Amino acid sequence: MEKEITINGLTFVPYISRDEIREQVSRVAGEIRRDLSGCEPVFLCVLNGSFIFAADLIREVGIDDCHVCFVRYSSYEGMNSSGKIKQLIGLTEELEGKDVVIVEDIVDTGLTASNLMDDLRRRRPRSLRFATLLHKPECTKTGFIPDYVAFSIHPRFIVGYGLDLDGKARNLPDIYVIKEETEDR
Ligand code: IMP
Repeated sequence: MEKEITINGLTFVPYISRDEIREQVSRVAGEIRRDLSGCEPVFLCVLNGSFIFAADLIREVGIDDCHVCFVRYSSYEGMNSSGKIKQLIGLTEELEGKDVVIVEDIVDTGLTASNLMDDLRRRRPRSLRFATLLHKPECTKTGFIPDYVAFSIHPRFIVGYGLDLDGKARNLPDIYVIKEETEDR
């Protein structure tokens, strides 16, 4: 893991290693497998940030009858939430009567997640669950609590393992945090 990286002039330092990620993704996958074994779950992955988490998680869950689809629902520009929730796009899968697991990279204010849950409930799935790689519970504006969380973290801006700063750093195998904010998780 690199000691420090610079993205758009900002310095980031290592925060969560690929080994820790693998361990927690495996734990979450086990929880999902336990809750949904015998079902044909639909994993609804929220692009772009969840693509790496989703790929690792879904393979680790190991339910061969599952379906995988992708939607987009971005509300972020740079490092601050714009607070604007945009329209859900790309959903073509029929969800009525299905067991749906939303796969997200991070829940910050929870606005995106709450909106998405409301949107999807209207499509009458049999069950609807929410899995996220990261959760910043102190940032919530909605009280939304995800069903599955790999890591609960303090309000810090992070990148890597799918998460970006202005589209950059999604490729990093480890998670990095902005340098000024490196106290305990
Ligand atoms: P929310 O609607 O405020 O919960 O924002 C969720 C979205 O904000 C995520 O899907 C990310 O795209 C983005 N986001 C929130 N925090 C971070 C971060 O620390 N790094 C990168 N993106 C973030």
